[in-house]
Amino acid sequence: MYYIIILLVILITIIFYFGMGLFAPTKDIEYDKYDLKGKVVIITGSNAGLGKEIAKKIGKLGAHIIFACRNELKAKEAIKEVFEFSNCENDKLEFMKLDLLSLGSIKEFVNQFQNIKKLKCDILINNAGIMWLWEDKKWNNPITKNGGNQFNTQFLANYLGHFLLTQLLFKNLMENQARILNISSSVHSLGGFSLENLINDTSYTFQTYCQSKLAQIYSTYYLDSLINSVENENITNKATINAIHPGIFASEIVNLPFPLDRLYHKIFKSAEYCARAIVKCAIENQYQSISGKYFDDTKIINSSSLSYNKEIGKQLYQQSMDLIKDYLN
Ligand SMILES: NC(=O)c1ccc[n+]([C@@H]2O[C@H](COP(=O)([O-])OP(=O)(O)OC[C@H]3O[C@@H](n4cnc5c(N)ncnc54)[C@H](OP(=O)(O)O)[C@@H]3O)[C@@H](O)[C@H]2O)c1
Ligand SMILES: *[C@@H]1O[C@H](CO)[C@@H](O)[C@H](O)[C@H]1NC(C)=O
Ligand SMILES: *[C@@H]1O[C@H](CO)[C@@H](O)[C@H](O)[C@H]1NC(C)=O
Ligand SMILES: *[C@@H]1O[C@H](CO)[C@@H](O)[C@H](O)[C@H]1NC(C)=O
Ligand SMILES: *[C@@H]1O[C@H](CO)[C@@H](O)[C@H](O)[C@H]1NC(C)=O
Repeated sequence: MYYIIILLVILITIIFYFGMGLFAPTKDIEYDKYDLKGKVVIITGSNAGLGKEIAKKIGKLGAHIIFACRNELKAKEAIKEVFEFSNCENDKLEFMKLDLLSLGSIKEFVNQFQNIKKLKCDILINNAGIMWLWEDKKWNNPITKNGGNQFNTQFLANYLGHFLLTQLLFKNLMENQARILNISSSVHSLGGFSLENLINDTSYTFQTYCQSKLAQIYSTYYLDSLINSVENENITNKATINAIHPGIFASEIVNLPFPLDRLYHKIFKSAEYCARAIVKCAIENQYQSISGKYFDDTKIINSSSLSYNKEIGKQLYQQSMDLIKDYLN
């Protein structure tokens, strides 16, 4: 009897904590208050999950969205959905191929974006990500090769690929006083941090996922410190850069067998709900000049104490620059 009561209490807590219930106060965007016409927004991984929901909201506000995705077919379907959601008024919804597991593809994406199409970026949302939870046919390769180098796949997709993307777009972002949002996760506090492990580990573990999310926060803080350094104090055109935990929500990132998948989608928050906070942080005036912070929903909170270690942040930055150096020019 006691066990049943304890189990029930645990279940209800989980439903309230992760689910919509009491802990879901964030309202949807007031679409008539904002106009993003003429703004260019890059969203990585916008063909599914959170990225697609962010695209819907930003698309409805009239922005020119670049769907930076690896799968053209899925991206085109998402574009159709966003088009319909925006009452078919936004025809500036554009697919551009970006595979974060290929450093060459990232370079080509940026070349297309700024040299060929001559676009300026106002908002960059580094959203795409993968997560390993258990052996699964979807994630069969823990290691990805690029030229002569090999990389831990989660590290490359979640962190290093976006690192290169942001570096290559850096001047463009600064000139446009862009807002950069890195979609991180609260689980960044669970994995510890070992650079050697992240870069050279050939296994696919949940711990590597957590560390890749922590790496995003390190690079958010470190880049912010460079942007706002004493040498740059008189530069007025500056990008802002923040990391954000969107909440725990049901998406394609967790691959469960039937009927667990149904339960998962019932219990957890929706990607639509979690996209609200991301879009608010990306467009609202109150966040305009905030940089180098970690958000949970729309609130600024402290990330893990390990994430404030400046020495690790600097080492990670230097090693990351070294790993991508062949692709910088
Ligand atoms: N779900 C959660 O509870 C949760 C919690 C905290 C943080 N997050 C973060 O939220 C972000 C979005 O996750 P989600 O839950 O929305 O996952 P999702 O539904 O699986 O969507 C992930 C997106 O990333 C794309 N992607 C993956 N690898 C890529 C690559 N190599 N190149 C280009 N695009 C790639 C996927 O494209 P394909 O369709 O081609 O695979 C997909 O569009 C991730 O950064 C995740 O870490 C999620
Ligand atoms: C996060 O933002 C920083 C600063 O713009 C950037 O250097 C880094 O590449 C981004 N990382 C990820 C994984 O999004
Ligand atoms: C990864 O392994 C290579 C080759 O063994 C080594 O040169 C490099 O220092 C290692 N990287 C880290 C971060 O430990
Ligand atoms: C920034 O401007 C102030 C006031 O003009 C000046 O005193 C200061 O030396 C400048 N800083 C740098 C790094 O150029
Ligand atoms: C974050 O940490 C700092 C320093 O440890 C502390 O002063 C501050 O109150 C904390 N902020 C929050 C929101 O917890």
